[in-house]
Amino acid sequence: MYSRIIGTGSYLPEKILTNHDLEKMVDTSDEWIRTRTGITQRHIAAEGQMASDLAVNASLSAMENANIEAGEIDLIIVATTTPDMVFPSTACILQNKLGIKNCPAFDMQAVCSGFVYALATADMFIRAGKYRNVLVVGSEIYSNIVDWKDRSTCVLFGDGAGAVLLTQSDQPGILSSHLHADGNYSSVLSVPGNICDGKIQGNPYVNMEGNTVFKFAVKVLEEVVLEAIAENNLQTTDIDWLIPHQANIRIIRSTAKKLGISMDKVVTTVEKHGNTSAASVPLALDIAVRDGRIQSDQYVLLEGVGGGFTWGAVLLRW
Ligand code: UT7
Repeated sequence: MYSRIIGTGSYLPEKILTNHDLEKMVDTSDEWIRTRTGITQRHIAAEGQMASDLAVNASLSAMENANIEAGEIDLIIVATTTPDMVFPSTACILQNKLGIKNCPAFDMQAVCSGFVYALATADMFIRAGKYRNVLVVGSEIYSNIVDWKDRSTCVLFGDGAGAVLLTQSDQPGILSSHLHADGNYSSVLSVPGNICDGKIQGNPYVNMEGNTVFKFAVKVLEEVVLEAIAENNLQTTDIDWLIPHQANIRIIRSTAKKLGISMDKVVTTVEKHGNTSAASVPLALDIAVRDGRIQSDQYVLLEGVGGGFTWGAVLLRW
C-alpha cells in the first residue's frame, strides 16, 4: 500500500508588501534584499486573519482539485509555527471551519520543515492502512512573529498556506521520506518567548543567526537529497523537479549547484512569496502542478530545513 497526492491547493493573502514598502519601515534597500535573498515581495495577512483562515482556503482548493468532499477526509494534519492560539490546535479549528465531523486532527511543529514532516507522517498512516484520505496543510502568518523594527529578519518572511490531499494507492506516490533533527542548534533560530502567568515571557519575535542557518541549510539539504536518491537507487539526474524550502535564492542555488541539478529543474517562489516557513513547499508544489510543469510519472523531490534544527525530504513519483 502506498500514498499518492491527488490534489493540491494554495492561498496567499491579498496584501502585498514590496521591498520598496520595507525601505520606508526599516534601514534597508530593495537592492540589499534582492541580492542577498532573491525576495522582491511577500504577502501579508489581513488584520484578524488567522493561520486556520489561510488553511481553509488552501484546503478547499486542494479538495476541489482532488474532487474530494469534506466528509471523505479521515485525518487532518496542519504544519504551522504560527497557530491561531495556544490550544486547541489549528488542525481542530480547520476541521470545524471545513464542517468535518469526528476525524482526528493535529498540528505538526517542525518550523520550516513542518510540511515535509507532516507529509511523511500522513504517508505512514496511509501505508499502515489506518486512513484513506488525509489532508496535509502548511499554513503560516509570520507577520505576527517578526519584529517589524528588526531589518535582519522582517524582510525575509511572508504569509501563506498550501495543502495537499493524500490518498491510498496501489502505486507510489510517495517513494520514501527522510526526517532529521538536531536540538543542539535550537538557539540559532527560535522564537524564545512563551506565555506564563498571563504575560509573554522573553522575546516573542523570530531570533536568527542568519549566517549559521545559511551554512547549515546548504549542508543538510544536499545530504538529505543524496540520502533520498540513494535509498531509491536513483541519481540526481533522475530528479525531474526539486521543490526546496523557499528561504533564500542563494541557499537554493548553492544546494542545486552542489547536487549538479540545473536551476531549470528547481521550482522557486521565494521571489514573490518570501519565506513562508511550513507553507513554502506546498505553495511551490501547487504552483508547479497548476502551471503544468509537474507531469505524470515524474520524480519530484520535496525538501525542507528550519528551526530545531529540523530537516527532511520526501521523494515522490507524480
Ligand atoms: O527558513 C529557514 C530559516 N531561514 C533561513 O534559511 C535564512 C538563512 N540565512 C540567510 O538567508 C542569510 O544569512 C540572510 C539573508 C539572513 C543574511 O544574509 P548574509 O549574506 O548572511 O548577511 P549577513 O548576516 O552577513 O549581514 C551582512 C550585513 C550586516 O552588516 P555589517 O555587519 O556587515 O555592517 C547586516 O547588518 O547586512 C546587514 N543587514 C542588512 N542591510 C540592509 C542585515 N539585514 C539587512 C537588511 N538591509 N535588511
